[in-house]
Amino acid sequence: MRLDKFLANMGYGSRKEVKISVKKKKITVNNEVVRKADIHIDPDKDEVAFNGTIIEYKANIYIMLNKPGGYLSATEDSKQKTVLDLIAERDKVLEPFPVGRLDKDTEGLLLLTNDGQLAHDLLSPNKHITKTYIAKLDRDISDHDVQLFEKGITLDDGYITKPAVLRRIEDKEVEIKITEGKFHQIKRMFEALDNKVLYLKRVAMGNVQLDESLKLGEYRELTEEEWQQLQQK
Ligand code: URA
Repeated sequence: MRLDKFLANMGYGSRKEVKISVKKKKITVNNEVVRKADIHIDPDKDEVAFNGTIIEYKANIYIMLNKPGGYLSATEDSKQKTVLDLIAERDKVLEPFPVGRLDKDTEGLLLLTNDGQLAHDLLSPNKHITKTYIAKLDRDISDHDVQLFEKGITLDDGYITKPAVLRRIEDKEVEIKITEGKFHQIKRMFEALDNKVLYLKRVAMGNVQLDESLKLGEYRELTEEEWQQLQQK
């Protein structure tokens, strides 16, 4: 890989800026000051340092975002804010994209990555990844509602949902676990029961829980353990 690409990917400026850093003798490869930005290096073997700090190369980025309402789960939009607007420039270098969608008004756990294989696996209907949500509702839920969620609910387009687990937290607040991701699925499931979702938040995907220390709009990279948990799915 070219040295300037390596450094640009790791957030050390554009290729032009990397060239300037090279001129300023800020970059070493295997302890030798580099004179040209376009030399080839092996990210697995060569030790690249910037101002004396060794740079660990990573090809992929895995982000956990606590999505606030008001942002589209998209990488760009001509009019509206997207979740990428919440990500710092240096974390966008590897071009992460949202894994699936949360509605504009839905809050909570949204993963972003540039790892197409993982994104594909997590979204694949065959993998049955459980997604856990908290919903606040317009009307009380009943035991009958819980049973209907278990049996499957017929949506407005005739689709019958796979069994879902509904747990009452309060009369108008529930935890829901679904394994599918149909358009507006949870809102439509409650609409079919003549109820209405007033607030929706995703709190887990598989075994990976939303880090509650993240304020709305904040994010962090996944830990190695969380990453492993997602891979195992
Ligand atoms: N179900 C919905 O209705 N909306 C979401 O954002 C996620 C699941």
